[in-house]
Amino acid sequence: MQTKQRIDEIESALKSEGDQYLDFLANKEKIERILELQEKKDVLILGHNYMIPLVYQLSGQQYRGDSLGLSREAAKAKNQIILFNGVVFMAETAKILNPEKKVLISDLEAGCSLADPFRAKDVLEYKARFPRIPVVTYINSYADVKAETDYCCTSANALKVVEHAAKEFGVDRVIFLPDSFMGKNIEDEFNLEGKKIDVIYPGKYDKNFGRCEVHEKFTLEMIIDIRKQFNMPKNATSTAVLAHWECRSEVLREADFYGSTTGMGRYLKAHPELKKAYLATECEMAANLASEFPNIEFVRACSIFCQHMRKITLDKILHGLENEVYEVFVEESIRRKALVSIERMLALK
Ligand code: 13P
Ligand code: SF4
Repeated sequence: MQTKQRIDEIESALKSEGDQYLDFLANKEKIERILELQEKKDVLILGHNYMIPLVYQLSGQQYRGDSLGLSREAAKAKNQIILFNGVVFMAETAKILNPEKKVLISDLEAGCSLADPFRAKDVLEYKARFPRIPVVTYINSYADVKAETDYCCTSANALKVVEHAAKEFGVDRVIFLPDSFMGKNIEDEFNLEGKKIDVIYPGKYDKNFGRCEVHEKFTLEMIIDIRKQFNMPKNATSTAVLAHWECRSEVLREADFYGSTTGMGRYLKAHPELKKAYLATECEMAANLASEFPNIEFVRACSIFCQHMRKITLDKILHGLENEVYEVFVEESIRRKALVSIERMLALK
């Protein structure tokens, strides 16, 4: 698509969003330059739902979304350069799927509190302690971890992947790493559905603990308080509280819906009667949904944001594209092993 047409698209998406539109006007030249470079160098720009709106809008409709959707798009990529606007584990996943392509991220320090402390040796410890039990690892992990894993999963398909892994191995236990809250949430969900799968997650049988530094900030008291302050009672038709799978289990129980980032967008689309929503997740998610759902008022708490996602800025993107720097590499023997767990996940519809 021509740069001019994309600029017009971005402008019309942000026009109704006062502050976002002013940001757009202030950065219009920079955005134009990035889109020109994209066209000239034939770059696929993938953008996660947590990007600030101006960065999020750089990706066309089909190329923005959650970890699962973006992995699927990366797997189909035809372009020789992929620019991943997200965090490093996401760009690394794109590289694992596209070894012959150049995969760029505009800040190689964009980490994740789940992925950063958890490495291959930690997976090996769980495998030694629980032999013959399948290991499902959340996509929020690095290539060395994925290489020791049977299945990769994202928040959009974790239940399906865990259930499938147990069935394939003919067991009723699965090791789920490294998110303790999500592991517990998956187990709770199976219990609610009457399914008996023992989910072994960090903290259940040991003193380990994996958490998202953003989602752990949401507490039950906070959600109850927001419901009161903003007149959003539980199960109301015109208001909804949505939570991400990475939140504490008591936050999920109090929410009207819980799921992946894309799942939240789908929920809003399926409920046109909604007038007000609060999202217990990274705050840019609501900013991005605001332009898509002009009839919904989003109650936002922008002190809760992901410092890693925030590292991706227009300036760094421009610099990275101009100079084709900040390239992601994965050692080939690790890449080949990690690919198996990602492909097993992508094969599940
Ligand atoms: P999604 O897979 O839902 O996009 O989430 C990724 C993530 O990092 C959430 O914190
Ligand atoms: Fe990691 Fe949490 Fe940031 Fe997602 S929001 S990238 S899980 S630190």
